[in-house]
Amino acid sequence: MKIRLQTKTTLTIALLVVLVLTASSYLFYDTAKRTLDAEMGKRLVAVAKTSAAQLNGSYLRALQPGGEGTRLYRTLQKKLQSMRDASEAQAMYVLDLEYKSLVDSRLEVPIGSQYHSLGEDRIHIDQAKRGIGAASVAFHGKDDAFYRSAYAPIHGERGGIVAILAVDASVLFLESLARMSRNMVLIGVVGMVFAVVLSIFLARSIVVPIERLSQATQQIKAGAFGTQVETRSKDEIGVLATTFNEMSIAIQERDQQVSRMAEELRQLSAGLAHEVRNPLNGMRIFLGLLKRQIPADPKAEQLIEQVDGEVQSLNQLVSEFLDFARPTPLQTAAVDLSDVVASVLALLDAELRAGTIEVQKVNLDTLPTIEADADQLKWMFTNLVKNAAQAIDRGGTIAVEGFVDVEADAIRVEVRDSGVGMSPETAERAFIPFFTTKDKGTGLGLAIVKRLVEHHRGTIECTSKQGAGTTFVLNLPTTMERERLA
Ligand SMILES: Nc1ncnc2c1ncn2[C@@H]1O[C@H](COP(=O)(O)OP(=O)(O)OP(=O)(O)O)[C@@H](O)[C@H]1O
Ligand SMILES: [Mg+2]
Repeated sequence: MKIRLQTKTTLTIALLVVLVLTASSYLFYDTAKRTLDAEMGKRLVAVAKTSAAQLNGSYLRALQPGGEGTRLYRTLQKKLQSMRDASEAQAMYVLDLEYKSLVDSRLEVPIGSQYHSLGEDRIHIDQAKRGIGAASVAFHGKDDAFYRSAYAPIHGERGGIVAILAVDASVLFLESLARMSRNMVLIGVVGMVFAVVLSIFLARSIVVPIERLSQATQQIKAGAFGTQVETRSKDEIGVLATTFNEMSIAIQERDQQVSRMAEELRQLSAGLAHEVRNPLNGMRIFLGLLKRQIPADPKAEQLIEQVDGEVQSLNQLVSEFLDFARPTPLQTAAVDLSDVVASVLALLDAELRAGTIEVQKVNLDTLPTIEADADQLKWMFTNLVKNAAQAIDRGGTIAVEGFVDVEADAIRVEVRDSGVGMSPETAERAFIPFFTTKDKGTGLGLAIVKRLVEHHRGTIECTSKQGAGTTFVLNLPTTMERERLA
């Protein structure tokens, strides 16, 4: 999956902000909770201890279930209530070593009742039974508020532990912490939205110019030399854009220079070839005259024939070179490729050595007509089929297959042969003018084919495997006007 740079940057920044916010909120919350928890625990235990010290354990033994009406009970309950109020606790009570109530600041708890909520606090009570004051963890009370309990031992007259004093106090700070954590979530959400918006802006300021540069490089790649990107910033990306623009202009200038030079060279060589062809024609006429002038001599006649042969092949070479250097302008019409190939094959009868080379035409009659110069197309296919036939030693096949490329509004034609194939070096140089591996070749065939294909705004490529055969792939647009606008 291709993720855009902007998405990546935005996501990274937003994720980072969320991570930092979450981590720091959690750390803050946790530290605050631990500190407050520890402080409160200490304070509660201290309250429990001082309150326990004010109770005389020996009276407690006299308390029996049903004795809530006795003076002793009421005195003790009053004392507990006043200590509870002084310490701002919620409840204060005394339990025996079996966890049963002895006295409770709350009126509704009779002597001997079992404290149900003590279950989880047993460990802390048992700690108090061993003489050490202890505080429980926070728990949810019936009124939905948070509470904590602390326990301290009450000593009898002989110093032994006879009962435990318990203090319940509400934990208000936990509620404020809960509120705080809710606020933190809110701050986190707002922070995240803010981070996303900010990162989108940030990413835009970096990514948009890069995307523009990337588009411009694509345009240059497609041949639009001189393409410029708009830039206002003076930062690194601005410098990059400015350099890019300069480079683009430099490429454009060099391209124009190369085209000019190529054009000059082409005209020069075409002129030269033309100048050579005229005297060659003269030479052939003079040779004919010479032949009639000299007395019958087989030796001399043979020499004259040889010279004439050489002059003819020179003439052929110069003509082909002129075709290459000065291609005739396109005369386009709607052309049916199937007809073109049929007429080419008919003319190449001799080269195709009937019986030894099998020619297959695949899918050609399903191709749409294309806007092209029929003569030039014939020229291309003549050369390609001739080359294929020359590559086949004894027997083999040549296939010409058509494909329709609807998306590109083009057709593709493959010319495949089962011939000797080309070495990688040959395949690389096959389209270069005058490159040939044949004794009697000029090496202009493929060079001209390529020129003509390019004139039709098409492309040609070849793939070959030595000993296995060669495939030439031609892409031709169906309409040239639309191609030019694209
Ligand atoms: N179908 C093919 N199979 C193998 N080699 C090929 C094929 N087509 C071209 N070549 C190689 O590419 C070279 C260049 O081909 P090109 O048609 O340009 O020149 P040529 O055939 O040698 O001479 P001519 O100008 O007479 O066509 C050939 O000499 C040959 O080595
Ligand atoms: Mg050839």
